[in-house]
Amino acid sequence: MRELKEDRSLREHIRSATRASLDRAVADSEASYAKRLGWYAIVRIRRPRLVVETGVDKGLGSVVLAAALLRNAEEGFPGEYLGTDINPAAGYLLQGPYGSVGKILYGDSIASLRTIQQPIDLFINDSDHSADYEAREYAEVAAKLSPHAIVVGDNAHATDKLLEFAERTERRFAFFREQPHEHWYPGAGIGLAMSSTE
Ligand SMILES: C[S@@+](CC[C@H](N)C(=O)[O-])C[C@H]1O[C@@H](n2cnc3c(N)ncnc32)[C@H](O)[C@@H]1O
Repeated sequence: MRELKEDRSLREHIRSATRASLDRAVADSEASYAKRLGWYAIVRIRRPRLVVETGVDKGLGSVVLAAALLRNAEEGFPGEYLGTDINPAAGYLLQGPYGSVGKILYGDSIASLRTIQQPIDLFINDSDHSADYEAREYAEVAAKLSPHAIVVGDNAHATDKLLEFAERTERRFAFFREQPHEHWYPGAGIGLAMSSTE
């Protein structure tokens, strides 16, 4: 997590790409990574070959995950990022060196997930936050997960769909609760479903 916080190249990239974007009036050029610090740590520790994130928005999660994959590659463990988003303008941050390790599949997430052929080592659900859609994403990727894959849910503070998925597929469930400092929002968190031998 400290490695990400101290990554000045990534901060500079986010600043300049945000200022050059059509979103510059509504997007913070100084990024707060929040729960993405946890996503980064998972990628650095597990060195996945394929990371899939559903719901890209500006691409903050994308570049954080790509930064982790680039560091892994420097250490001899290359990996690839795939993001999905229904908004054709999503993902403007995923460019330059960060864009070299991944791409965005545009369209409905479930349809995009269907096209993925390789085993997924880290799956992050962060698209349509309705409980039903979240559950459909887990069902869609279930057969594509590698044996020790980690499934991250961005909705685990609000629904029990990741817990249900973990129980149904005999995985362990954990929840890492975010506690925003001096902010009105009570916080979301990182839901995790992982192999029961982890
Ligand atoms: C919460 S944002 C994603 C934030 C991003 N993961 C991050 O780390 O900054 C949710 C995104 O999901 C996208 N989305 C909503 N419904 C979708 C769907 N059915 N298929 C694909 N993307 C969808 C939205 O366009 C939006 O960009």
